[in-house]
Amino acid sequence: MVHSLKTIEWKDNKVVMIDQTKLPNDLVFVEYDDYQDVANAIKTMVVRGAPAIGVSGAFGMALAVLHSNAQTKDDLIKDLEEAKKILIETRPTAINLMWGLEKIMQVALKGSDVSETKQSVIDTAKKMADEDVQTNMTMGKLGSELFDDNDTIMTHCNAGALATVAYGTALGVIRAAKESGKKVKVIATETRPVQQGSRLTAFELKHDGIDVSLIPDTAVGYSMAKGLVNKVIVGADRILRTGHVFNKIGTYQIATMAKQHGIPFFIAAPLSTFDMKSNPEDVVIEQRNASEVTGIGDKKTAPDGINVINPAFDMTPPELISGIITEKGIAKPPFEESIKKLFEENSNS
Ligand code: MRU
Repeated sequence: MVHSLKTIEWKDNKVVMIDQTKLPNDLVFVEYDDYQDVANAIKTMVVRGAPAIGVSGAFGMALAVLHSNAQTKDDLIKDLEEAKKILIETRPTAINLMWGLEKIMQVALKGSDVSETKQSVIDTAKKMADEDVQTNMTMGKLGSELFDDNDTIMTHCNAGALATVAYGTALGVIRAAKESGKKVKVIATETRPVQQGSRLTAFELKHDGIDVSLIPDTAVGYSMAKGLVNKVIVGADRILRTGHVFNKIGTYQIATMAKQHGIPFFIAAPLSTFDMKSNPEDVVIEQRNASEVTGIGDKKTAPDGINVINPAFDMTPPELISGIITEKGIAKPPFEESIKKLFEENSNS
């Protein structure tokens, strides 16, 4: 098995995470025992990636119950509602955060008394973390069938172990392809402005011994036109019932370029990334600080006072997507039908 990093863990009643802002230079673990610190870690991208922030949100709720002084179940629920409000306000686009928080609320509402509710919230959050790894491994195995020996696969941002609890979604599929004996190479885009591709994907694949080459975002067209890429796989922050995919800014232009060159473009994401209710115009695209664009690290690379547009995500329409890999199967076009089927078939599981 290919080893991968453990991004988030519940240890001795604390949440332990890799501080992703320090990568690739330092592999530092941080510990939190206050949910407000977990919220801050999500906001400042100490932890990032849709499934990782879903589980972090759930662990934040576990810290909230652990340190609550509530004497009644109603007061405990009030404390949890307050924690949920603070955690949800951190990042708006990835649906997994909302999914994680709501799952915990549902469990808490069913609790019979304070102590039983506290324990079931903590147990559920831990279970969600364990299940995330299993989900990724199942998705990886299913998705690996779409990849062939000697494929060179382009990926964008980081949909790896660092974006989940471990193993990864898109990078999990690549890991599984390698584990099944196929020789695969990866081309990772740098992913400006936060550089998840160079700081995280290149770090994690190199750490795990997977062949990876880094390109600037501007070299996507060049790489495809030169025949350096056979397939593309990325993760997702939110997938609508129509197959519209919200993912890291730049995904849309890569998908468009892949279509132009006849290169299959795949998404890998768990069912917890699907939002079956919203329409494209309902989804809030996070706008991040201008300083991410006007500098690299501490170095200023743009004039003072320049206007900046810095959306963190974009939307890729279904007609550019060849398949959506989930832990319950692969949805193929037409997506409205295949996604509906995936959910109907798994409504009782
Ligand atoms: O802003 P980030 O780093 O949280 O964005 C992450 C991405 O867009 C990933 O590609 C996505 O969450 C899929 S992660 C498995």
